[in-house]
Amino acid sequence: MPRTYQPATETYVVTGATSGIGLCAANELSTHGTVILVGRNGLKLDAVQKDIERRGGRALSVVCDLADLASVSRAAAEIINLGLPISGLLNNAGIMAMPSCKTAAGWDMTFTTNYLGPFAFTQALIPHLPNGANVTFVVSAIEDPERRPAKVMGMRGGRFISVEASARGEWLPGGAKLPGVDAYATSKQCSLAATLALARESPRLRINAIEPGINPTTGLGGANALARFIFSQIVTRLPPFSRYRSTPERAAHVMAQVLTDRSAKTGVYYDENGKPMTGSTLAHDPQFQDRVVVQTRAFLANAAA
Ligand SMILES: NC(=O)c1ccc[n+]([C@@H]2O[C@H](COP(=O)([O-])OP(=O)(O)OC[C@H]3O[C@@H](n4cnc5c(N)ncnc54)[C@H](OP(=O)(O)O)[C@@H]3O)[C@@H](O)[C@H]2O)c1
Repeated sequence: MPRTYQPATETYVVTGATSGIGLCAANELSTHGTVILVGRNGLKLDAVQKDIERRGGRALSVVCDLADLASVSRAAAEIINLGLPISGLLNNAGIMAMPSCKTAAGWDMTFTTNYLGPFAFTQALIPHLPNGANVTFVVSAIEDPERRPAKVMGMRGGRFISVEASARGEWLPGGAKLPGVDAYATSKQCSLAATLALARESPRLRINAIEPGINPTTGLGGANALARFIFSQIVTRLPPFSRYRSTPERAAHVMAQVLTDRSAKTGVYYDENGKPMTGSTLAHDPQFQDRVVVQTRAFLANAAA
């Protein structure tokens, strides 16, 4: 039976709403309108939905595995069929697979989950978004090879060769020693570049990116308990990390502010305090941005054929 819902004045779509920053963002956005919770785990989605409803909010759940393009297009179609007026889309879900692994299609898991899946999801939703809707991509400052905390950690920024090469898990030589980091940094560099290209392409929408700061307590904060403890309790309290330290609640608050902003700001890259920041030189190069988007569209069209 088709699901029917009362129209709401504002509806926000949040991916990765089942934990970390996305969960906090969904909770905060539920005070502004209906939230469509998007995640790969139905049980976790149900629990978040019930929690929001218990507090008097309105939420719906849509299962979507961003690492699986068929799941992405099913989820986008399900959301479009709801016919709700979408004021904002928060592309928050993200992983850093360490070590690297592949999707069922044989593509790099991190690059697909963080970039190809969200791009396909956004591309499917854009024609159905009303004028002035906000689309926000959660990226990461480690895409920038000059970012000091990232440099200290031995990260070397985005290592983009091409979209096809990234899907194969191939990165520009000279990258990070830690496996999985180049995939993560490149996925975020592509997300930032695509944000800026899409903002130029669709001036009727507001398309922005956010760096949420260092949130050592979330799922991305550390691969194992000891590493997480050392990172969250010691390392991130010291310079150069302490300056960028945040909490999921704070990061979510900045995201909610950007998602509910009714000004015409578009093509802005926000930092953890909601102030405009500059990313890597490459991500800000319009030619690079267009190259990334053109290659992504060609890759996705080919994959769907
Ligand atoms: N934490 C930081 O310090 C930091 C810094 C810079 C940028 N970021 C970015 O901030 C965003 C949120 O990160 P976080 O720290 O809150 O991470 P997190 O706690 O690990 O949460 C990640 C969310 O993404 C979902 N997700 C993972 N793979 C998915 C898939 N294939 N399909 C659908 N959903 C999927 C997870 O679902 P499950 O609950 O099912 O696992 C979870 O809800 C990410 O984009 C991350 O790259 C984080």
